[in-house]
Amino acid sequence: MATGAGRRVQQLLKVPSLLSVSLTELILFSKRESQKHLINKRFCSQEVRRVTLIPGDGIGPEISEAVKEIFATAKAPIEWDQVDVTPVKAASGKYVIPSAAFESVKKNMVGLKGPLATPIGKGHVSMNLTLRKTFNLFANVRPCKSIEGYKTPYDGVDLVTIRENTEGEYSGIEHKVVDGVVQSIKLITRAASIRLAEYAFQYATDNNRSNLTVVHKANIMRMSDGLFLKCFREVADNYKNIDYNEVYLDTTCLQIVLDPSRFDVLVMPNLYGDILSDLCAGLIGGLGVTPSGNIGSDGIAIFEAVHGTAPDIAGQDKANPTALLLSAVMMLRHMGLRGHADLIENATLDVIREGSALTKDLGGNGTCSGYTKAICDRLYPSA
Ligand SMILES: NC(=O)c1ccc[n+]([C@@H]2O[C@H](COP(=O)([O-])OP(=O)(O)OC[C@H]3O[C@@H](n4cnc5c(N)ncnc54)[C@H](O)[C@@H]3O)[C@@H](O)[C@H]2O)c1
Repeated sequence: MATGAGRRVQQLLKVPSLLSVSLTELILFSKRESQKHLINKRFCSQEVRRVTLIPGDGIGPEISEAVKEIFATAKAPIEWDQVDVTPVKAASGKYVIPSAAFESVKKNMVGLKGPLATPIGKGHVSMNLTLRKTFNLFANVRPCKSIEGYKTPYDGVDLVTIRENTEGEYSGIEHKVVDGVVQSIKLITRAASIRLAEYAFQYATDNNRSNLTVVHKANIMRMSDGLFLKCFREVADNYKNIDYNEVYLDTTCLQIVLDPSRFDVLVMPNLYGDILSDLCAGLIGGLGVTPSGNIGSDGIAIFEAVHGTAPDIAGQDKANPTALLLSAVMMLRHMGLRGHADLIENATLDVIREGSALTKDLGGNGTCSGYTKAICDRLYPSA
């Protein structure tokens, strides 16, 4: 027990008694204090930035709360501007994003989005698609990196898929020619292909990636994929630092499942990207652990978890917030907040490696709130 004077000193300094705590507790206490000091010293002076938060549907609100709690513990200088994107019917009869959400994204330029349900037969198109179109989010970027301690059939995966997000097979141009005959147009434009190529080469350069592969079927779709390739070749001439390759889609699939380490940055038109990016997410454990970002042409970027709303587990504290959290980490890097990004990412990867707080989808018995607390505790050991 501490003496009266000792207790007063403890109260003043808010330190535990030397006599009443074990050596381990003292070490943890001093580690926690030095970590807090480090966080305060390194990060607290930064200007607070506003980010639009779209929590989304189903498990969206739970995993968004988890991200907010972890960001607050890490003292990330982010203020959340929380908005709802339930579609509203405009005078034109079209469903649009509510104006408050639109203005918030326009003003903040950066957003974080949870999953959105697409109700079947309710008359409005997917809000995910609407967000992409509204803010011209032309590139979807998904880094897929093996997580140490979370075993999948593949080790050492470290690749990035960049998917064209606005045209290609998803141009939405379809019509009936005659009864029993329909056409769907794959639209490829020089403007969109050059824009994607410039983004992809710059991304590779900025992220110290040395190899960029364009995935295509120009042997079959000579004009559309042919134009896509031509644009990439033009831009490649300005990036001699990057080793540039072109590989057929079918060959890429074969090679990825045999040896994913052959690839670094993979870039492709819309439909190929939709499929290949999910395949790559599967290599590291699925959509529950894969982050994603959508980059727009006007400086706007929206980061998102690409899994769905998981209605079967919504509201039960069973959701895994990792994909949204790692998307938020990607967002911090995009905003130049690399210190906070590293801090939160390392704590998350530590908790996954350690294994005891994992949610059911990752093979554990943990809860969303327990997993979140475990990550916060890594930011302040034993807090
Ligand atoms: N990006 C998006 O917003 C997006 C993507 C896909 C589906 N959706 C929408 O989500 C709804 C449900 O779609 P679905 O059932 O096909 O796919 P889903 O991803 O919601 O669920 C598939 C399975 O994965 C589980 N799961 C998904 N995310 C999880 C997480 N974070 N933690 C733990 N388990 C998780 C679910 O419990 C379910 O068993 C639909 O309305 C669909 O339109 C939205």
